[in-house]
Amino acid sequence: MTAAWWQRGVLYQVYPRSFRDADGDGVGDLRGIRERLDYLVELGVDALWISPFYPSPMVDFGYDVSDYVDVDPRFGTLAEFDALLAAAHARGLAVILDFVPNHSSDQHPWFVESRASRVSPKRDWYLWRDPAPGGGPPNNWISDFGGSAWTLEEATGQYYYHAFLKEQPDLNWRHPEVRSAMYAALRFWLDRGVDGFRLDVLWHLIKAEGFPDNPPNPAYRAGQGEMHRVLQTRSTDQPEVHAIAAELRRLVDGYGARVLIGEIYLPLERLVAYYGAHGEGVQLPFNFQLIDAPWSARELAARIGAYEAALPQGAWPNWVLGNHDRPRVAARLGDAQARIAAMLLLTLRGTPTMYYGDELGIGRVDVPADQVRDPLELREPGLGRGRDPVRTPMAWDATPNGGFSAATPWLPLHADWRTRNVERLSAEPGSLLALYRRLLALRRAHPALAVGDLALFSPSAPSAPSAPSAPLPREIDDDGDVLAYERRGDGERLLIALNLGDAPRALTLPAWARGARVLLSTHDAALEGAGAPTLPRLALRPNEGVILAAPLSPTPAESSRP
Ligand code: NOJ
Repeated sequence: MTAAWWQRGVLYQVYPRSFRDADGDGVGDLRGIRERLDYLVELGVDALWISPFYPSPMVDFGYDVSDYVDVDPRFGTLAEFDALLAAAHARGLAVILDFVPNHSSDQHPWFVESRASRVSPKRDWYLWRDPAPGGGPPNNWISDFGGSAWTLEEATGQYYYHAFLKEQPDLNWRHPEVRSAMYAALRFWLDRGVDGFRLDVLWHLIKAEGFPDNPPNPAYRAGQGEMHRVLQTRSTDQPEVHAIAAELRRLVDGYGARVLIGEIYLPLERLVAYYGAHGEGVQLPFNFQLIDAPWSARELAARIGAYEAALPQGAWPNWVLGNHDRPRVAARLGDAQARIAAMLLLTLRGTPTMYYGDELGIGRVDVPADQVRDPLELREPGLGRGRDPVRTPMAWDATPNGGFSAATPWLPLHADWRTRNVERLSAEPGSLLALYRRLLALRRAHPALAVGDLALFSPSAPSAPSAPSAPLPREIDDDGDVLAYERRGDGERLLIALNLGDAPRALTLPAWARGARVLLSTHDAALEGAGAPTLPRLALRPNEGVILAAPLSPTPAESSRP
């Protein structure tokens, strides 16, 4: 089976402000990342995706780019970037940049020129409209950060559109010069050797011609965030965006084995359209379904099944558990289920993306009101949308500031950093970090996990051939809390069984898995490689996940026949 590096590998997202501060200003930087590459190698990931480090006024912490082809001095220099890239490649790690095509900073020279006059040569590089006939914004589009998405430029009497902050004006992707300028920026980084891009808000690039109103959202409830008052059916996800994705893909394909990842928050059937009808779109439209999934076996199985079924022919799946915009997985699920989530992420079919710090189990972080930095929280306080708690510094050891920085960090660390840090958890065989390392090592060692097929067992009725069941201990019974599936490939069948509940459970094993080898349990490192469960039912402790392995052919039963 031939698979590309981005299919076989595991991606790891680094939020550069918070990974490691080497120059002692309280904010992470590129040198800090370079000095911690060996950690990523030992962890066992294959690629790092670095959130934006381009020059930026940092109103949205780098997602407001004022120069697409340089490095912000707070993060380092181009020379430091080259050193990071070379050091990563020397270790076999790929480097994926975060590209922000939909909008620039209002400080970008393009926008400065565009806003200067109605006849500026770059006027149409951005989206300028006259006020509505009765005055006011041209339509009802709402910024994702609240308030109208249109800001009036008094000097020229026109409004410009910004899907996010007013300091992030949207570029006009219908304009060929904008496309050329963006493609030149991508080439700049590809020529330096980067391995791909994560494309920020890809589904936003094209807006409906004529800028019609968005329809009201009948399901809107107060407290959700103002953006949800309308459905963004006219301001996002327009059919023409797919031709742009294909153009981007052709450009990147011209450089060989590179990857394009699309950040896209859309319902499944719209999401998978970004693969392109014939695979000409992005290789990995981010699949965020686990981020907001109700944590039950039935719901997860339904989502996994629906996603697998929706994938176009030849499309490669991917899974994400957390990122810099959404609550951390350990904050959502707690410590015990964070271990199950790790096993799920790293055993599903498709490229997993890990988020820095999730391997330590960083959970809820309470950022005091006077330390809030996220513009989203500052504009719409108290709705629980604020993203500071998921962007706090990585904890490396128990030295001051968790070894993140010699200075006071830009955001506080999680409260338990003295014990929840890389050094400490590395020394604990049963830690979440150790579990991540073992799972990542297993993925490398077992092609069935990395690139094999997947078959779901229904949560309450595993697809086991009927066989006499052994009597169950009284406290154990089958029910909907167990998510189980099979991975198969390269002469091996693996069974993954995850107890999503905090009571003991049992799973009826299919015939092929009886006598299978236990590869790993979330609960007990000593179980690794241990003898087989011989009962037809696999007992799972509360919050336990288990991986069993059996040869694909001949089955253990057959091979033991005389
Ligand atoms: C998506 C990014 O992930 C988020 O952090 C940012 O605020 C918006 N795009 C705007 O660029």
